[in-house]
Amino acid sequence: MKADIDAIYAKGIRLSPEAYDFLDTAAISAAVLEKLIANAGNEPIISKETIESLIAQEEKIPVEPVIIARAPSFKPIAKEYSSDFRVLEGSDLSGKSNCTGKIDDFVGHFRNRFERIQKVLRSRLSENSVVPTNKLKATQGDKVRLIAIVTEKRVTKKGNILLDVEDEEGNAKVVIMKDTAGFKACSKLMLDDIVAFDGKNADELFISDTITWPEIPLMRKQKRTEKDIAIVYLSDLHFGSKKFLENDFSNLITWLNGAGERQDLAGKVKYIIVGGDVVDGIGIYPEQEKELAVKDIYKQYEMFDEAISKLPDYIEVIVGPGNHDAVRRADPQPPIPTDLIHTDVTLVGSPSQIEIEGLRHLVYHGTSLDSIIAGMTGLSYSKPEDAMLELIRRRHLSPIYGDNLIVPESHDYMVMDVEPDIVHMGHVHKNGYMMYRGTLLINSGTFQDRTDYQVKMGHVPTPGMVPILEGKSGKLNVLDARNGKVNSITFSA
Ligand SMILES: [Fe+2]
Ligand SMILES: [Fe+2]
Repeated sequence: MKADIDAIYAKGIRLSPEAYDFLDTAAISAAVLEKLIANAGNEPIISKETIESLIAQEEKIPVEPVIIARAPSFKPIAKEYSSDFRVLEGSDLSGKSNCTGKIDDFVGHFRNRFERIQKVLRSRLSENSVVPTNKLKATQGDKVRLIAIVTEKRVTKKGNILLDVEDEEGNAKVVIMKDTAGFKACSKLMLDDIVAFDGKNADELFISDTITWPEIPLMRKQKRTEKDIAIVYLSDLHFGSKKFLENDFSNLITWLNGAGERQDLAGKVKYIIVGGDVVDGIGIYPEQEKELAVKDIYKQYEMFDEAISKLPDYIEVIVGPGNHDAVRRADPQPPIPTDLIHTDVTLVGSPSQIEIEGLRHLVYHGTSLDSIIAGMTGLSYSKPEDAMLELIRRRHLSPIYGDNLIVPESHDYMVMDVEPDIVHMGHVHKNGYMMYRGTLLINSGTFQDRTDYQVKMGHVPTPGMVPILEGKSGKLNVLDARNGKVNSITFSA
């Protein structure tokens, strides 16, 4: 930075052209600047290499993971059970990307999304028959239902809402009068949303008073497992970051080995799902190298492998990618390559659906939460479960096209065809839980301490909090890995 160069020149120290260029674009810490000035007498002209080696000396050297000792009294029940889980065929992008980047891809992608969400909406009860846009005129004021995607939304002078909508047959203008039930629901309606409008056609306008979301329409009983097992939900570990909370993660592994409170619960843990951002990655954002303790992507994954190898061997680990992992950034993301993770884990894409002991899990890193939180009033990073609910309402994991990077695959992997029992996301580094009509929503937080960026944005993460679901009772617990305490979560009925 210019200020650093000025400070160096003020001391009469000279820089090589490469060193000058380096300092012109990179910021160095106060400690490095101090050392550079102190050591200047050894070198008539400071080289770029000297600056780089000073920076390297300042980097935190990763501490060897703590040796985990299995508690002798630990008799884990999970060891007695064989595992029962499967990744649902076609639910994730495992070697099936067929997008060529042509315009036809977008058309096919949206058609696929529309057809599948329409199918969900058609299964919803209505007294009114579904009519496509090109047949509306013939309905002569009958009460009908229109299923369409919103392409434009505005408020009229009279305070009503006017929408441009499209379906496979054409387009229409929909008016939702204020003081109707539909008007209130309309406040949440965003561009690209696919919903059902009930109403009547009047000349060039379709007057609607009711909006139906695809969502989870009915209250269901929370699904339970037969076996007395537990599932741990993790995400956003960020191995390799200077802010990775190594001690807290070691505490978690120690606890899973039965050396802590609630041995009964630790002994039930049969599955761990890691929902992405396993490592901090490299080159994810400008000047990230300053935040990295380990700048080699292979070594970052080695650290993860090292930690996972300390787990009891009866625990199944399922790992999906996030936007910091070494796969394409755009959703849907393929699994992390097998040459990066060498421990015996199951690698899945994001999103993916995994049935564990009969519980259908929808696992998605949660990258699109950024755009839905930014795009809808009332949502915030402090309550990620509310944003997750908005995705479920739309039965789509990334409804706003363009705000979150999407590769338009011919099959839209972000559509939720079936109602999941558990939806697991991460990405926002804030734990959040909700029981919604029998579906459990979990945001599993992080093991990365608050970053400078988060300080700047006023975002307060919740590191080291680990949600653990007991399958048989349906109880959700949270282990605080910083102090080993376990608390249970209660949901209002
Ligand atoms: Fe993350
Ligand atoms: Fe992320």
